[in-house]
Formats: sequence, C-alpha cells, structure tokens
Amino acid sequence: MAEVLITGANGEIGHSLIHFLAEEGRYQVVGCDLREPTPALRRLCSHFYVGNILDQGLVDEIHQNHCFDKVFHLAGLLSSSGEKNPYLAHEVNVNGSMNIMKLAQEDANRRHKPVVFMFTSSIAVYGLQGDPNPDRALKEHENVLPTTMYGINKHYIECLGDYFGVRDKSMEEQRMVNLDFRCLRFPGIISAESMPSGGTSDFGPEMLHAAAQGKSYKCFVKPEAKLPFMVMQDAVKALLDLSRADMSKLTRSVYNVNGFSVSAETIRRRILADFAQADLGYEVVPFRQKIIDSWPRDLDDSAARNDWGWRPDYAFEKAFDDLLIPSVRRRYSGD
Ligand code: SER
Repeated sequence: MAEVLITGANGEIGHSLIHFLAEEGRYQVVGCDLREPTPALRRLCSHFYVGNILDQGLVDEIHQNHCFDKVFHLAGLLSSSGEKNPYLAHEVNVNGSMNIMKLAQEDANRRHKPVVFMFTSSIAVYGLQGDPNPDRALKEHENVLPTTMYGINKHYIECLGDYFGVRDKSMEEQRMVNLDFRCLRFPGIISAESMPSGGTSDFGPEMLHAAAQGKSYKCFVKPEAKLPFMVMQDAVKALLDLSRADMSKLTRSVYNVNGFSVSAETIRRRILADFAQADLGYEVVPFRQKIIDSWPRDLDDSAARNDWGWRPDYAFEKAFDDLLIPSVRRRYSGD
C-alpha cells in the first residue's frame, strides 16, 4: 500500500487528517510529531515518529524506513508563537520544511515520479498595510506582504515549492526538480474537537471552548477585528481534494480557500446565543491586534473553485448551528 507522511501529525489539522485518511484506507499513514500521540491516534498510523523535523538523524531514519507517494507537511510554529520566538520559528518553519522537502525529493528520485507535497500556508502571507480598500477579498497574487516571521516563513516555502516543483517546467528542467508541490492558504480554523496553540486567529476557537466549559475568557483582539475562518472539516476536505486533484486541472501551486468572514464580535454574539451565561469579554493584546490588522478580512478563493471544484460545506450559520455548538456541547458535557 502507498505510504503517506504527515508531519505535525499530533497537531490540530494532523489529528483530523489522520482520521480521514485512515478511514479511507488507501494509505499507510506515517506520522511524525514532537509530541507523543494518544494511543487512539497511534493506532491509526502504521508508524509514528516522535521527534523534531530539525533532527537530521530522525529525518534520515524516516527516509530509510519508507518511500512516500504523498507528504502532508503541517508541522510549524504559528504566528503569535513566531513573534515571541522568531529565531525558533525560522528554524522550524523554514529549515524544518527544507528537511522534509529534501526527503520528499529523494523519494521522488527513488520512485522516478514526482511526490505530491501538500503544504499548509496561511492568510499570514498577506499584508494590508496602507491598503485603501482593506475590506475586499484578496486574490492569491494581491498584497503578498507578510509582516510576521510566520507569514514570511510561509511565503518563502511557497516560493521554494515553485522552485522545486514540476509545474511550468520543461521536460529537461523536470529532471532536476521533482515535487508536485500543492499549497493551501488557510484562513483561521475552528474546531470543536481540538484547540490551536500560538496562533493569532485562536480567539475564535478559544471563545467557543471557554463558553462551553463555563470559563471566563478575554478575547485578545478588538470586537470589530474581522478575519476569514473555516471549520476543521472543510480544512481537511480542502487538503484531501487538492491532494487528489488532477494535475492538468491546476493552474497554480498556491490556492486560497475560505469558509466565512466574520468579526470577533459576530462570533461572540453567536456563541452567547447558545451559551447565554458565558463570560466573554475583551482585553486587547497590542502585538496580536497588530497582526490581525495586517491580515486580510476576506479571501477570494475563486481559483480553487474553478480549478478543482472547491466548495466549503459550512457557511457561518451552518458551521455554528449544525457542527460547532452541538459538538462542543457534547465534548464538555461528557455525552
Ligand atoms: N491560524 C494561523 C495563526 O493564527 C494563521 O494561519 O497563526
């Protein structure tokens, strides 16, 4: 059976993706993460490597034991963590990514076939500074002006993906490069099953989980702070759909995907409609507000819609009514 590698396998997206891939049963899933997986997650993987993608010994060991058809490279530090520790963010997000890209290229050489390399990029590659029309939905090529270490790292790996990728290369050039690099620029992601850590869009999921647990919460950005978001189910669907898309249909290597664009206050009010007693306030953290101010308020994902049929299943109302509120209730009530 074909093998697929998931880095950051124990992270938010990795967790969900492994469940979908394991259910599908077409791959042997090899996980890698800094943290030990739960026994349940471990059982879904044929192998799980606990360690750092900066550790060349670990990467060599993975390389010796496997030959991958596909890689989902999800490991990385998020934006707020990256601002607190920019050197570490650069190490992990750039050098770690290079290690995994090199591993995938060596596998492509062994297989004489490009390896599909899925990379999770972000709205953090954009910068709104000085934009006269900050409310518009940005296309992939507009305002690529990252201001955070995380955004800079993500954009650089997008560029390396084009450098090492087979897209738009002649047959001659394709002998030298061998990644089928495909990348999604994700908005903030909300899941009822897990919590992000160190991101700047985390206020959305943090409000939801705090309310469901009866905990007080102070949102760290202003009420009017608006961002694109999507639910985890749609994020995983986008990853799987793009990874399976016919290469001839793809007109680019980097695609925006979006679910819904909402302000912090809209999320807060929606949560209060179901958890009326919740104590959700505001206490703005300036460095995080500054990050949000630089990020797009909306994303244009028409290229993904046109090329590989992307459609989110969950708009804002459906996301909260049918998925997030019922799931988070179940999660914390022990049902
Ligand atoms: N969710 C990420 C973060 O907040 C953005 O892609 O850092």
